[in-house]
Amino acid sequence: MGCTVAGTGKALPELVVTNDDLSQVVETNDEWITERTGIRNRHVALEETSTDLAADAGRAALADADMAPEDVDLLICMTITPDAVVPSQACLVKARLGLERAVAFDLNAACAGCVYGIDVAADMMEASALADLPEAAGLRLARGNRIRRALVIGVDRLSRITDWTDRSTCVLFGDGAGAVVLEWNAEVPGILSSFLENTDDPTLALACDQLRDLSTFPFGTIGQEKAGAIMSASVEEVAEELSRPHHPFISMQGQKIFKWASRAMADAVRAACERADVPLEDVALIVPHQANERIIRFAAKKLGLPMDRFQVSIQNVGNTSASSVLMALADAYRTERIQPGDKVALVGFGGGLTLGAILFQA
Ligand code: ACO
Repeated sequence: MGCTVAGTGKALPELVVTNDDLSQVVETNDEWITERTGIRNRHVALEETSTDLAADAGRAALADADMAPEDVDLLICMTITPDAVVPSQACLVKARLGLERAVAFDLNAACAGCVYGIDVAADMMEASALADLPEAAGLRLARGNRIRRALVIGVDRLSRITDWTDRSTCVLFGDGAGAVVLEWNAEVPGILSSFLENTDDPTLALACDQLRDLSTFPFGTIGQEKAGAIMSASVEEVAEELSRPHHPFISMQGQKIFKWASRAMADAVRAACERADVPLEDVALIVPHQANERIIRFAAKKLGLPMDRFQVSIQNVGNTSASSVLMALADAYRTERIQPGDKVALVGFGGGLTLGAILFQA
């Protein structure tokens, strides 16, 4: 019995930015970007908010699953660029879509977000189903919210945290949202296994400190001598603090990430297959994070699989972070690359460093 994919959807902002457009902003060219990354175009959200994109993708996935908003028990939004810190992105989308009964929360696992979000939703569904079974072998599971249908949405507007003067990163990213509807069905296998792993990133190979926190600054600088008193920093002190080097945009050690990612993606897919006792050769399609087509090619080589077993959707969207795997999954369903009964692997990696793979039977 398992957690099945009942529908998928995606949404992209209207503005398309080509490689030639970017060559007017930084010193680059279409040939370099296409050869090194496989990217030709990306979408950039000028008007669209993360809520707009996530809601459009969620609506499309619900329509694809033939499901009404009131059917949804759980909404998870994966993002590193929410519209607000509070309310969460998920709360904003829940209200927009009218998901009356759903509980909603955000999850940040950077570009591996889709895999982490699906895994958490599937675990909640499984626990819910198990708790309904009669007590077995002395095992009594706590009963929580009954989760049978979940909407899992990845949304990012990396354009908000991209340094548009840094050619080594700005050519890579794009904005968008992807969504999947998961449904519990005791009659089918659904998700077969998952594998999640975090590797520490002490040299910050991939980072963005946009949310540097100044809120306790007055207490940190002058508070020690006057503990207990209510204090505020002077205007000069705040100005000095704000002038410290601060990098609110994504910074990246490209080659380091490249090497780690191509090996890590292959390892994660193998681990998910081993956990499910499914030979790698039986996997019909691998839907990887779309960071760079060359990373996907390297991972394919490490796995000893031909490229036609991989969904490659990066060409017209770039790296869309938490939405990338779900947008690629929607593409794979729309083009009928996934048939009922197929075994499909999703695999993502990202800042943190986060890594994850999920194997499911369609
Ligand atoms: N246009 C033209 N030249 C460029 C550009 C550009 N856009 N960017 C870099 N260059 C130059 C560099 O300055 C360098 O020039 P030099 O030799 O004169 O110093 C040369 O190209 C080679 O640079 P490298 O960094 O060695 O290029 P590389 O082949 O490693 O490709 C890339 C760079 C595409 C960034 C690659 O390292 C990569 O894809 N890394 C992984 C990135 C990634 O996936 N990040 C995200 C993961 S997590 C997430 O999704 C948020």
